[in-house]
Amino acid sequence: MIEPVRGGDPSASMSSSPAPDAARMIAVGGGKGGVGKTFVTVNLATAIAREGYDVVVVDGDLEGANTHTCLGVPPPPLSLADFVANREEELSKLVVPTGIPNLSLVAATHANLAAAQPGHFQRVRLLSRLRQLPVDLVLIDLGAGTAPAVMDYFLVGDDGLLVFCPEPTSIENAYAFLRAAFYRRMRLGMVTHSVRGLVTQAMDQRNEKGIRTPADLLREIEALDPAEGGRFTETLKCFRPRLIVNDVRTADEIKLGFSVRSVCKSYFGLDADYLGYVNHDQGVRQSVVSRRPLVDINPNCDAAVYLRRIARKLIQTLGQPGGAPEEAS
Ligand SMILES: Nc1ncnc2c1ncn2[C@@H]1O[C@H](COP(=O)(O)OP(=O)(O)OP(=O)(O)O)[C@@H](O)[C@H]1O
Ligand SMILES: [Mg+2]
Repeated sequence: MIEPVRGGDPSASMSSSPAPDAARMIAVGGGKGGVGKTFVTVNLATAIAREGYDVVVVDGDLEGANTHTCLGVPPPPLSLADFVANREEELSKLVVPTGIPNLSLVAATHANLAAAQPGHFQRVRLLSRLRQLPVDLVLIDLGAGTAPAVMDYFLVGDDGLLVFCPEPTSIENAYAFLRAAFYRRMRLGMVTHSVRGLVTQAMDQRNEKGIRTPADLLREIEALDPAEGGRFTETLKCFRPRLIVNDVRTADEIKLGFSVRSVCKSYFGLDADYLGYVNHDQGVRQSVVSRRPLVDINPNCDAAVYLRRIARKLIQTLGQPGGAPEEAS
C-alpha cells in the first residue's frame, strides 16, 4: 500500500449539502482520454450504492460509450442517444438495473455519430430531468475533452470531480480542463452583455486586451462594472472542483493532488478539494475484462480501499439514504 504523504486530509474543506428533494449530481471529468474517469465513476457508484444509497450512473460519453461494459450491462434497447435524438422523452425509461443492488444505469449506446452531442437546450432539459430522478445520487461519466457539452455537465452538477493521472500530458489536459471550466463558469455568472463579452475575450490566451490571467480579468471587470466584479468574486467562491489522482505508483505522485490544488488557488483563485488518490493496480484490467467493478471483485486490494475512502467522503455530502436530511449531531 502506498503510504499517504503529509499535508492533511485532502478533502478537509468539503462541505456542501444537497437539496432535500433533488438528486445530488456529480460529474466526473478529466480533460484527457484514458485517465480512468469511467473506472473511477463505476467504482465510486458501486461503493456508494453498497452503502445503501440509490445511485444512477449516466454515461455522458455519447461518442465512446463504455460505462455499461464496465458494469456488465448489455447494450439496453433505449439509451441517452434516444433522448438526444428526441426518440424518447421520458428519461426514467432509459434507466436500467445493473445487477448491483441500488445501482442503475443510463447508457449512451447506439449514438448517432452524425449528431451525437446534445444541443444547449437538450442539455438543460437532460440535466433538469436527471435531477428529478427519484434517487440519492446521479453520477455522470464524462467523455474526454472540453467541449461545451462536457463542460456544462461538469459545471451544472453539484460537484465536479476532476480525474487525472501522474503524467505530464494528463496534468496539462487537467489544467486545460480547469481553465475551460473556470472561464465558462465565470461567463455564466456574469449578467451584463459587456462583461460576458470581456470574459469571452479573456478565453483567447492571446487576446488583444492583454488579459493573461484570471486576476487580469477581474481587474478589467471591476474597472468596467464594480457590481459585476463582486459577482465574479462570489461566483469564484462557489466553484469548487474536487480532485482525484488516479493510477498513482509512488508516494511522490500522491503529492500531485496538493500541487494542482495550490495552482488552483494561486492562479485561478479557486478553492479546490483534493479528494484522494487511487493507486495503479493490476487488478483493474481484470475487473474490466470480467465486466465487474473492482470494489466488488477485489474489495480488499489497495485501489478498492482508496476508492471506498473517496466514496465515503462523497457520502458525507449526501445525507441519509432515501433523501432524508442528515440528523444534526
Ligand atoms: N488505477 C488504475 N490502475 C490500473 N489501470 C487503470 C487504473 N485506472 C484506469 N486504468 C486503466 O486505464 C484504462 C482507461 O481507463 P478508463 O476507460 O476508465 O479511462 P477514461 O478516462 O474513462 O477514458 P475515456 O476518456 O476514453 O472515456 C483502462 O484500460 C483501465 O483498465
Ligand atoms: Mg470513459
